[in-house]
Amino acid sequence: MYEQISHALLNEILDELKPEIRRQNLRHFYTRLGANFYAIHSLFHHLYGNRDDFKPQMVKLVEVMASRYIERNSELEQRDIERQKNHNWFLSQELVGMAVYADGFAGNLEGVCQHTAYFQELGINMVHIMPMMVCPEGRSDGGYAVSDFRNIDPRIGSLEDLATLTADLRRRDILLALDVVVNHTSNEHPWAQRAQQGDTTYQEYFYTFPNRDIPDMFEESMPEVFPHTAPQNFTWDETMQRWVMTVFNNYQWDLNYSNPSVFIEMIDIILFWANQGADIVRLDAVAFLWKKIGTSCQNEHEAHLILQLMKDCCQVPAPGLLFIAEAIVAPTEIIRYFGEDAIIAKECEIAYNATFMALLWDSVATHNAKLLNQGIRSLPNKLDRATWLNYIRCHDDIGFGFDDRDISACGYNPYEHRQFLINYFSGAHQNSIARGQPFGFNPKTGDARISGSLASLIGLERALELNDEKMIDIAITRILLMHGMILSFGGIPLLYYGDEIGTLNDCTYLEDERKANDNRWMHRPRIDWEKAARRQQPGTVEQRIFFALKKMIAIRKTIPAFADFNNRELISVDNPHLFVFLRTHPLQSDASVLVVANFDAKPQHLNMNNLGQRRVFKYGTARDLHSGAAPAIFKDELVISPYRFYWLADGRPEIRF
Ligand code: GLC
Repeated sequence: MYEQISHALLNEILDELKPEIRRQNLRHFYTRLGANFYAIHSLFHHLYGNRDDFKPQMVKLVEVMASRYIERNSELEQRDIERQKNHNWFLSQELVGMAVYADGFAGNLEGVCQHTAYFQELGINMVHIMPMMVCPEGRSDGGYAVSDFRNIDPRIGSLEDLATLTADLRRRDILLALDVVVNHTSNEHPWAQRAQQGDTTYQEYFYTFPNRDIPDMFEESMPEVFPHTAPQNFTWDETMQRWVMTVFNNYQWDLNYSNPSVFIEMIDIILFWANQGADIVRLDAVAFLWKKIGTSCQNEHEAHLILQLMKDCCQVPAPGLLFIAEAIVAPTEIIRYFGEDAIIAKECEIAYNATFMALLWDSVATHNAKLLNQGIRSLPNKLDRATWLNYIRCHDDIGFGFDDRDISACGYNPYEHRQFLINYFSGAHQNSIARGQPFGFNPKTGDARISGSLASLIGLERALELNDEKMIDIAITRILLMHGMILSFGGIPLLYYGDEIGTLNDCTYLEDERKANDNRWMHRPRIDWEKAARRQQPGTVEQRIFFALKKMIAIRKTIPAFADFNNRELISVDNPHLFVFLRTHPLQSDASVLVVANFDAKPQHLNMNNLGQRRVFKYGTARDLHSGAAPAIFKDELVISPYRFYWLADGRPEIRF
């Protein structure tokens, strides 16, 4: 949009840029800056316009953007231009991701580099490497307490190792996603250290207070994220002689985004990693970016404005870069991280679908899809050019953050139902075969989340203990059912490393005193490559899971209806054990796929006449794309075996492996 005040300011800023920047050939940069400047100016003004240093801060922001653009290499710039032309590229069904800890997966970055063929073997073409920037030993929160935003932890590798890895990934057409921990730093970060030494410039990078007056007011409405290990939201810093806001662990200092210097530093850091070759940046804990007294300090409107501004700024030097929002919040809040009041995504293009993940786990515990259907039905439609990251497990705990109204609509009492889930997954419930543990137990509310690996939570650990073949079979079938859902729902499926070979809980973290009080470490495994090698031995658990997944991934990639163009219709059926949805092809009406999943231990049936017009295949021609076979249909009743799913389409050639 052309707007005179912004335009006049832009001209002034361009005149004030450092001569070394002005001398550069910045054609693409200027075109994009012109296109985005109205939005950048309006947002920056809205957030920081009342400050005397508003204009110099704007100049600084543009300088940072220009400097990082100048550093961007021609290969990355070429990729930016290609992605601009094909701007829906990331909605394709061909993308399948995996999240890995570099050290857990293969010791370090060099090790990851030696195992890139493993990703390809499975069909993974997007790898999210968990945070690996420098962190203090011990007080690292699994990489999320960063003390140097521009260097890699030497135990994991170096920037050179990352360059070698990105080159290898690019050769294999695998995208790279990296973390940027935007909400906080470690208390050992130089900004925090300078603040401790009394430097007020850096004290303003954080929320620090001389006494309890303001912290006490904040505490009245702020929940606790880690009530068990890090209760309260402020920590007294002895050296600084001030209270500092620490929403997560007491060694993680929250950054103060009402200070424009913090915003500009973070843009600089995000672009730094974009220039190291990240295709996608995962922005950690974005719901927490804005703090306001009297609120929960989560999901504030300004947090969204900060993200929009980050997007607008990063698009100028690196338009091919995508953002993932890590906002594990209520279902109606998560969706706002694509962009408030927008038509196409204007904050983060990708967001963790924590709602779907938790609902899937509910179906595991209850053996029915009541809450799953209800929760998905209540999920508002997402924007265009926005996509979900669909996952079953990740490095964090599972929270049962469903909407209470949805739980009640299914006839459950919300408190009791959550207690049931906690008991079920921690193995306390009499019918449970799960082997998880409660995480973040809050004695004030009785609430808790759950830690544990997919295989252990779903019953494989118990089945192996009992050496019960039938139970092992069931556990594997359920692992595949869960993956069948994230591979077909719409969005990018993100597998979690180790799940592809049925990795169980790893309790060795208890021997390390720095980890022992955080049971999320039980599901952050160190891959045992001898176990992984068993994926080649027919009949082993590893082989059965790995090969079934590999096949499902390959098939997903051939199904255009699985691309994410908001082309999913949830179908209400009268059988509570079933989850049924239709994926339509945006252009070809006869290429729809009907997904039918049975979460129950007994076979279930579905009357195909109930699907009405949505019947996607002519009588007798249905083919299950997943198995390649015709499904069992008896007198119009589709029969779905226990814990099985179908991807049904009009008869098509079988895909062979
Ligand atoms: C994110 C991370 C989690 C971490 C938290 C604080 O939620 O996923 O692992 O503990 O941020 O940094």
